[in-house]
Amino acid sequence: MKTIEIKKDIYWVGAVDWDVRDFHGYSTYKGTTYNAYLILDDKITLIDTVKKEFKGDLIHKIRGIIPPEKIDYIVVNHVEMDHTGCLPEIIDIVRPEKIICSDMGRKALIAHFHREDWPYHVVGSGDKISLGRRSLEFIETRMLHWPDSMFSYVPEEGLLFSNDAFGEHLASSERFDDEVAIGELIRHAAKYYANIILLYSRLVKKQLENLEQLGLKIDMIAPDHGLIWRSHTKDILEAYHNWCNNKSIEKVLVIYDTMWHSTEMMAKAISDGIEREGVSVKLYNLEVNHRSDIMTEVLDTRAIVLGSPTLNNGILPSMAGFLNYMKGLKPGAKIGAAFGSYGWSGESVKIMSQYMKDMKFNIIEPGLRFQYVPTHEQLKECVGFGRRIGRAIKEGIGG
Ligand code: FEO
Repeated sequence: MKTIEIKKDIYWVGAVDWDVRDFHGYSTYKGTTYNAYLILDDKITLIDTVKKEFKGDLIHKIRGIIPPEKIDYIVVNHVEMDHTGCLPEIIDIVRPEKIICSDMGRKALIAHFHREDWPYHVVGSGDKISLGRRSLEFIETRMLHWPDSMFSYVPEEGLLFSNDAFGEHLASSERFDDEVAIGELIRHAAKYYANIILLYSRLVKKQLENLEQLGLKIDMIAPDHGLIWRSHTKDILEAYHNWCNNKSIEKVLVIYDTMWHSTEMMAKAISDGIEREGVSVKLYNLEVNHRSDIMTEVLDTRAIVLGSPTLNNGILPSMAGFLNYMKGLKPGAKIGAAFGSYGWSGESVKIMSQYMKDMKFNIIEPGLRFQYVPTHEQLKECVGFGRRIGRAIKEGIGG
């Protein structure tokens, strides 16, 4: 079996999940990986484990290098089950001297596996453990992705084990960033950020500042999902810097659903108006686009225009679901506007506008609604509505 040595005597021993298509609401249409790493030193150390169903892959890969019983330490950077599902079985085989985790990690491990008797060794930010020729330093990264999360850093190698951070849900036979198209890889990293990390942008900002203050030499970033960064570490760090600072581009998303095509007609006319002002616009029909793909576009958009007809004094369920999902992820401030057709009561525009106000969007238009099917004149009003949004972006009005 091919072994993947990422640095001298440090191996990737993870698993590739080609089949997973949903990761708690995130469409993982390219699968994912659960990365784990093995450090051969005086103290042989396993960094993270994998999802329960992939225990065999992990053990098989470790056995290709050393008998698993020789492992001394297991580091648990994060307790979520995609990284610890098989941990109890691995502990039974390995009988490690230490299970290294944060204090919150120890509590979460006990709450998951109900084993107070495991040999926990709690570490905090700044703590160091010698493995022999190399050492491990720990940086707590609370809420990236859970309160227990931490990074493990090997200073002698400039190697950062970053767990969920800097990852992508992407199954591949390649293991390194320079073995795939970098644009596509950053796109997957953006989707991961938009759907998993976005809510914690404020903490990401702090962590990036912290990494800079610590002056760590980072030669390689080895996350627990997707590809290992060795040639584009600066690119992914810069991308995280942009995303956590809500850096946006001149782009508008028109996100809508429609009942009898009237709201769709409005969406197209509004997009036409935006385009006429020389601003990039993308239409996302909620019936055919997955919410997690739309969120990837939300990450760097300057403005969002929402469209839904009124249904039962409310909005269409697809729009309600999307807004609930987006609101939970707390995107940074954007320009916002709403539109939709209606039959008699017409509450949808007001409801969508309220969602956007709750997300601190800058509502620059009072909203546009037309009864039943829009006339040619009303579609011209939609074009004007779009033009005003486009001009606001050109004039530099912010979210
Ligand atoms: Fe990949 Fe938060 O688990």
